[in-house]
Amino acid sequence: MHAGITPSTVFVMERVSKRYRSNFFLRRLSLSIFDSTEKYGAVSRALHWLMAIGFTWMFFTAALHFFADETPITEALWPTHYLMGFTILCLGVIRVIWAAVNMSRRPPSISLMARLGHGVMYLLMLVIPTLALLRNYGADRPFSYLGIQLMEPTGEKISWMVDLAGLLHGELGWTLLALIIGHIGMVYVHRKNTSATDVLPRML
Ligand code: HEM
Ligand code: HEM
Repeated sequence: MHAGITPSTVFVMERVSKRYRSNFFLRRLSLSIFDSTEKYGAVSRALHWLMAIGFTWMFFTAALHFFADETPITEALWPTHYLMGFTILCLGVIRVIWAAVNMSRRPPSISLMARLGHGVMYLLMLVIPTLALLRNYGADRPFSYLGIQLMEPTGEKISWMVDLAGLLHGELGWTLLALIIGHIGMVYVHRKNTSATDVLPRML
């Protein structure tokens, strides 16, 4: 051993280096979990794509309800509209909290329109299922999720809750579909237009 480097110095050096390495990995891990100005982090990306799959299912079942009501396939699949809808609401709440936590470091919006569009989509993804649940409650119907009873009939009907969702749930649902189609279209346009920012890699 080199003069002046005692076993206790080696011990301290090893501890420091181990700590540095574990800090380095922790920092790398937190960098990939949280958003950065260049890219959405793993949690934001997972929520975005999981919910995109969920919404595809919601609009598929909604279209069945609209175009093929009272057919065996709609009768078989319609209960999943409730199940997936409630799942989307839960994921949506987590997504809003996560967006707030990452607000200062997520990729900046490329325009005011993009910022507004994303804001409206956030609002609708919470409002639409909430209206449906409100209608369920107002209609005094039971509601259970994965075997957990979340609403029990109380014997009292609240007509404004039923009417509000009757008026808005489907309409806002189709509006969200139109926004999503526009959203996908804009991602494509930005990717193809060489002078615009390609935003797709931020979400991949
Ligand atoms: C998460 C988002 C949701 C979306 C995007 C969505 C979308 C839609 C759309 C577009 C329709 C219209 C279908 C038609 O015109 O025939 C619809 C209908 C319906 N949805 Fe949803 N839904 C969602 C969540 C839910 C939830 C959580 C429930 C139940 C608690 C629910 C219950 C219903 C019912 C009962 C109808 C038929 C009556 C109506 O048109 O308002 N939905 N939904
Ligand atoms: C094939 C389908 C989809 C593609 C290719 C896509 C692509 C993208 C991309 C590239 C971004 C980043 C945009 C930017 O930072 O400027 C983004 C963000 C976003 N997308 Fe999508 N998207 C899809 C489906 C959806 C769906 C179904 C929703 C549901 C409403 C949605 C809601 C959002 C929102 C709210 C943002 C803002 C960032 C966030 O908070 O997650 N997207 N999307």
